[in-house]
Amino acid sequence: MSPDFPSYSPAEEHELLRQTVRELADAKIAPRAAEIDETGEFPHDVLAALVQADLHAVHVPEAYDGAGADALATVIVIEEVARACASSSLIPAVNKLGTVPILLSGSEELKKRYLTPVARGEAMFSYALSEPEAGSDAASMKTRAVRDGDHWVLNGTKMWITNAGVSDYYTVMAVTDPTLGAKGISAFVVEKGDEGVSFGAPEKKLGIKGSPTRQVIMDDVRIPAERIIGAEGTGFKTALATLDHTRITIAAQALGIAQGALDYAVGYVKERKQFGRPVADFQGVQFMVADMAMKIEAARQLTYHAAVKSERAMHGETIKDLTFVSSACKCLASDVAMEVTTDAVQLLGGYGYVKDYPVERMMRDAKITQIYEGTNQIQRVVMARQILK
Ligand code: CAA
Ligand code: FAD
Repeated sequence: MSPDFPSYSPAEEHELLRQTVRELADAKIAPRAAEIDETGEFPHDVLAALVQADLHAVHVPEAYDGAGADALATVIVIEEVARACASSSLIPAVNKLGTVPILLSGSEELKKRYLTPVARGEAMFSYALSEPEAGSDAASMKTRAVRDGDHWVLNGTKMWITNAGVSDYYTVMAVTDPTLGAKGISAFVVEKGDEGVSFGAPEKKLGIKGSPTRQVIMDDVRIPAERIIGAEGTGFKTALATLDHTRITIAAQALGIAQGALDYAVGYVKERKQFGRPVADFQGVQFMVADMAMKIEAARQLTYHAAVKSERAMHGETIKDLTFVSSACKCLASDVAMEVTTDAVQLLGGYGYVKDYPVERMMRDAKITQIYEGTNQIQRVVMARQILK
């Protein structure tokens, strides 16, 4: 009897990809990470390096000039970039988040028009679901889209939009029928250059400072009717179905941050001497390192497992527990990232607490992974609903 396990261990190509991304990240991203954090400026040089290496949006299918990488490969790219710089990892991650709604539900015309420039590195995409009064309860959004002949007219404010201002295109969820609740929400592509689009001031954040977070404000934005993604009224489902694929990328980001912190702390404790020997000789330190590595590996396995399920779902297979595993890996990996980065700061002692060393930045960057793409309380709501339904 031959085993029929759904394989989720990385293939040789995945490991080669990891090596390529790690080399690029070590050479071009890691040396910039502290400065990106300090200045809070979007790293255009990192974007250029990722575009040159074709790592900025690896998930885009070959049919649209993309690399056609599978979901596990995409996870590995994000993980390795995040190991060096969490802000930079939002370039491939949010390019995926913004475009999955089109991949899942968009017309062929929309796919050709919007995925191709992203694949070529000529444009970036953001995803605009949240609003000032509608975060966890995303369906309570107020942004309106009203049909006017061959056009839709959008009015409203989207909040917390990652890479807003830098991205050329935005997937915007808006209410098309206020009497229907979640079934009255539709998804659209809005362009940065559309008349009536403006951006709020960049938020001043705890971490991921090199990734701009701004409001996207729409004031009578008139867009052609063809820019609706899927049928009218399907936008909320598309938005949630997208998150089933992309919460896995946030897990990847969290894993990368945690691995970066562990790697740094391990190097440090082997060098740092107290009581006449390296602090790595003390069992109290060794047990912390062991726990950190154990938690990362557990989160990694769940994330890779979810990535394989996501890929199979993208190819049309029905994966009944995709929503569960996607929430579970995001929730677990982000909690692990917070624990591991906090422990890394602890292992560096006072030096961990200052900006001369990278672990305090990693700890600040880790926090957002417990909040965005649904807070970890919401992940637990999602998982519990899947279990109890
Ligand atoms: N896929 C497809 N459809 C789904 C779905 C899924 N995973 N989950 C639910 N649906 C469908 C439901 O079946 C339902 O449709 P029917 O009425 O036809 O059955 C419809 O969507 C509404 O579902 P619910 O009744 O479950 O919706 P709800 O209002 O109770 O909310 C929620 C559910 C899970 C709380 C959801 O609002 C949620 O996930 N909130 C968190 C928001 C979030 O994650 N925001 C992320 C913003 S992006 C971001 O942060 C960016 C970044 O990281 C960089
Ligand atoms: P609230 O929903 O107000 O939650 C407040 C608290 O109540 C939280 O602890 C929450 O977990 C808890 N809570 C709420 N409801 C429940 C419940 N039912 N059960 C238990 N606890 C609950 N959004 C986008 O659309 N696109 C983006 O690109 C994007 N990028 C972001 C980048 C950053 C840096 C940040 C900070 C946010 C970003 N977001 C983005 C928004 C993010 O997804 C929301 O902040 C998140 O979903 C939580 O919404 P909220 O901030 O309104 O918190």
